[in-house]
Parts: sequence; structure tokens; C-alpha cells
Amino acid sequence: MDKVLIIGASGHAKVIIETIELGGDYQIHGLIDTYKPKGEKLLDYEILGTEHDIPDFVSKGINKGIIAIGDNWTRFLMQSRIKEVSPDFEFVTVIHPSAIISPSVRIGVGTIILASVTINAEARIGNFCILNTDANFDHDSTIQDFSSLAPGVTVGGNVSIGRCTAISLGANVIQGITIGRHSIVGAGSLILHDVADFSLVYGVPAKEIRSIKEGESYLSKS
Ligand SMILES: CC(C)(COP(=O)(O)OP(=O)(O)OC[C@H]1O[C@@H](n2cnc3c(N)ncnc32)[C@H](O)[C@@H]1OP(=O)(O)O)[C@@H](O)C(=O)NCCC(=O)NCCS
Repeated sequence: MDKVLIIGASGHAKVIIETIELGGDYQIHGLIDTYKPKGEKLLDYEILGTEHDIPDFVSKGINKGIIAIGDNWTRFLMQSRIKEVSPDFEFVTVIHPSAIISPSVRIGVGTIILASVTINAEARIGNFCILNTDANFDHDSTIQDFSSLAPGVTVGGNVSIGRCTAISLGANVIQGITIGRHSIVGAGSLILHDVADFSLVYGVPAKEIRSIKEGESYLSKS
């Protein structure tokens, strides 16, 4: 079994750790975190250093891992930093054994598909995405790199979601909608119309609330 590093040591990382343990495809070597002290533990695994220590691990043959950071922009920044210090580091894809995924679906590297997710025919999932617990992603829909579906999100068929966009807890998106990049759909929203790039929308039905900046936080209460 290949050894993997888990990058990020938050609550989201606990979910990823347990998903990898259940899947049985990889052996977890330890955690990497920018801020938490070396030696601290999360579940049964130790924090071994920061992203700047990754080249040392690669030189010892531990050259694979997954970024377990829930915030889309922070995950993007971490991926960029790792690419800089260790261009040969490989990102794995983590899929919970209970996920139901059509054989015609394509899923990128560094992406995480959690428990009870359903992905239907010919959907396309980019790199470094998160499809969180119980999300449903219907046929022919696409989600670009660094975007996320929070737990309980339902996305209809032929929907297009741009890069670095967050669809929050329990939102519903009807079929055929286009949602731009760097946007945030608030928890519990019902999306009946296209969503522009860089916008915050929420409500039932959802309305545009304001425009947002690249990297604006949407998980600050976690
Ligand atoms: C979109 C979101 C980031 C907005 O948060 P926010 O900007 O901090 O909003 P605030 O809490 O300051 O609320 C401002 C107002 O908007 C309302 N509001 C905020 N989010 C709302 C939502 N999703 N739907 C309807 N109204 C909402 C609040 O009730 C409040 O109204 P009030 O001023 O009359 O009291 C937040 O609703 C959200 O969805 N967070 C992500 C949750 C999530 O998916 N977590 C993932 C866990 S894995």
C-alpha cells in the first residue's frame, strides 16, 4: 500500500482520515500543517511538519498525499505552495466506499468524494474538489477545480459550476443552471437562475446579495 500524507489537520481532516482507513487503498503516514505544532496528534496520526518539509518526505519515497482543507481558496493556495516546493508530489483521489458513482463519470486528482455521495452518468468532477457527505450530482453536470459541494447539496442534470465556487449546506440547484467561478451559494438556497462569477447568493429562491472578492471566507464560523 502506498503511504500518503494528509495536508491540513482540522475537523475536515478527521473525516478524510476515516474515509482513507475505510477505503483501504492507502496507508496514512502522518499529517502536515502550517500552523499546528509538530508532534501534536489528530486521531491516531502525528503532525510531522509543514508543507516546507514535504521535499524531505518525497526524498524518502513518501511522495503522495491529499489536501484536507475545506476552504476552497486555502486549498488552492496550499496546492500552489506544494507545487512550488515539491513539483513531483502526487495528489491522490479519495472516494468513500459508500459513494455511488456511474462508471461514465470522470474525477480529477486531489478530489475527495465522501460518504453517501451519488454522481450520475457523464458528470465531470475537476481536480481538488470536495463532494461532501450525502451530496447528489446529477447527469452531465460539471464542477471545475477547487470547488465544493457541502453536505446534503443536490445538483440537477446539465449544471455547470465554475472554479473555486462553494455550494453550501443543503442547497438545491435545478437542472441546466450555470454557476460562475469564485462564487458562494449560501446554505439552504434554491438556485433557479444562473449565478454570475464572484457573487454571493442565498435564499429560497436565491437572490444575489453582493459581489465578493477572490478568496473570501465562507466557513469563518467553523
Ligand atoms: C453564505 C454564508 C457564508 C453567509 O454568511 P454571512 O455572510 O456570515 O451571513 P451573516 O451570518 O452575517 O448573516 C447576514 C444576514 O443574512 C442572513 N443569511 C445569512 N446566510 C443566509 C442563508 N444561507 N440563507 C438565508 N439568509 C441568510 C442572516 O440571517 C442575516 O440576516 P439578519 O441580518 O436579518 O440577521 C452562510 O450562510 C453559509 O452558507 N455558510 C457556509 C455553510 C456551509 O456550507 N458550511 C460547510 C460545512 S462542511
